[in-house]
Amino acid sequence: MKAKWDALSAHHQAVKDRHILDLFNDAGRAQAFTAQADGMRLDWSKTNIDATGRRLLVDLAEAAGVADKRRAMFTGEKINDTEGRAVLHTALRNLDSTVIVDGKNVIPGIVETLERMEAFARDVREGRFTGQGGRITDVVNIGIGGSDLGPAMATLALAPFHDGPRCHYVSNVDGAHIADTLKGLNPETTLVIVASKTFTTIETMTNAETARAWMAGKVANPAAQFAAVSTAADKTAAFGIDPSRVFGFEDWVGGRYSMWGPIGLALMLAVGPEDFRAFLAGGRAMDDHFQTAPFDANLPVLLALVGVWHNQICGHATRAVLPYDQRLSRLPAYLQQLEMESNGKRVAMDGADLPTHSGPVVWGEPGTNGQHAFYQLIHQGTRVVPCEFLVARRGHEADLAHQHVLLVSNCLAQSEALLRGRSLDEARAIMAKKGLAGAELERQARHRVFPGNRPSVTLAYDRLTPFTLGQIIALYEHRVFVEGVILGINSYDQWGVELGKELALALQPVLEGRQGTEGKDGSTAALAAWFRG
Ligand code: F6P
Repeated sequence: MKAKWDALSAHHQAVKDRHILDLFNDAGRAQAFTAQADGMRLDWSKTNIDATGRRLLVDLAEAAGVADKRRAMFTGEKINDTEGRAVLHTALRNLDSTVIVDGKNVIPGIVETLERMEAFARDVREGRFTGQGGRITDVVNIGIGGSDLGPAMATLALAPFHDGPRCHYVSNVDGAHIADTLKGLNPETTLVIVASKTFTTIETMTNAETARAWMAGKVANPAAQFAAVSTAADKTAAFGIDPSRVFGFEDWVGGRYSMWGPIGLALMLAVGPEDFRAFLAGGRAMDDHFQTAPFDANLPVLLALVGVWHNQICGHATRAVLPYDQRLSRLPAYLQQLEMESNGKRVAMDGADLPTHSGPVVWGEPGTNGQHAFYQLIHQGTRVVPCEFLVARRGHEADLAHQHVLLVSNCLAQSEALLRGRSLDEARAIMAKKGLAGAELERQARHRVFPGNRPSVTLAYDRLTPFTLGQIIALYEHRVFVEGVILGINSYDQWGVELGKELALALQPVLEGRQGTEGKDGSTAALAAWFRG
């Protein structure tokens, strides 16, 4: 691998000072650096990767054993080796396959749970399952991290398909979150889903207790309006939730990869089982593409390789995700967990320090909002931020098509501006036209220079449907996988979240005044003293 990394670094040294725009002297570049899969189009031509860079990056992926590890993941090998688990979120959408884990085909169990979810969703949506005051009007999903971000993001993304009860998502242990959510809801017609893989997460269990107490104030049997989604059937039973409303999954589905199964229950209640199946089909289509397309035409592989080029080779520490699709406004937050919890690791599988940086900081906001906030830095700041634009050819609002044209113009204009920039001579000409001259013209012109030569990729699709959303999410999942394999890390554990959880548990009695601050550093002790007043 070292030789492959070295070859890429040497290539980068050789090309780093050229302008990406010059690569377009090759009239075939846009086409040669655009890959497609089932109507989805990834244009990565606005990067400083040329044919040699592409070959070296593909060599890197091949040398890392991406093909072999991909087969291992899809067939249920225990690739999450710090937890001794298979990684099989893909099985949740490949329902006609056979996947053996510990000698048993796991697909029939997945199908059975999906069908139970569908039956329950239909009962709720069609009024056969009711609250103690009548038809369910609202669903409150209580979960955090992977038990919240996916379904919450998707419920927003698929708003045009939403014809079920209103869905609300509570995650934060800050009481403000649940208080603001429950305010205005009727306990007699609300269904609460407690979504937690482990059913031990402090935020979720605390909010679940609060919701139960809220409901108990108004209905005779609160537990009857609770459902649970978890791998821990014993704990859901202890909470008092009837097994008929408990939807289980196995430990080989990671939290941040879990929205395809029971964790997607609230989404299914919102959009209905048919659209949920269409979402699964989109994910499945991307799985097929990922497993069959050659690396240099393979969307997840290419997205990962562009990421490796920008982060590990060029040294750009962050990446902005910029959906020009308001309904994907929670996608950046979702991707923060998916990517940073997966690939934010400092040691390789064997425990040795990584020879490169881990995955990048991922951040973003929808366009055009971001343009009026942080794009200033993206265009003129001293650091380069590789950008990832997402855009649909068509919106859902036929009567607002003129607004969609504006939206798409803005999206294309931003990647064009990042690429092209504005030279000092162009800025001078603008200032001269405004009547400036001499030193003042020069000074003002310098403020209006855009360096350009800033990389971006554009992911374009026809319309944001359940199928498209499934493609997008599976695309990003596989991108994380490929990047993780290349970096040599385990993308499927998350030990980095543990220490804070432990310290918070230990601090609770200190803040409640039941314990002193012995052993705490000076700052933490002083803050605890401030809190106790
Ligand atoms: O704290 C991190 C984490 O373990 C995530 O990986 C997970 O998605 C989240 O907490 C919630 O966990 P659970 O679904 O078990 O409540």
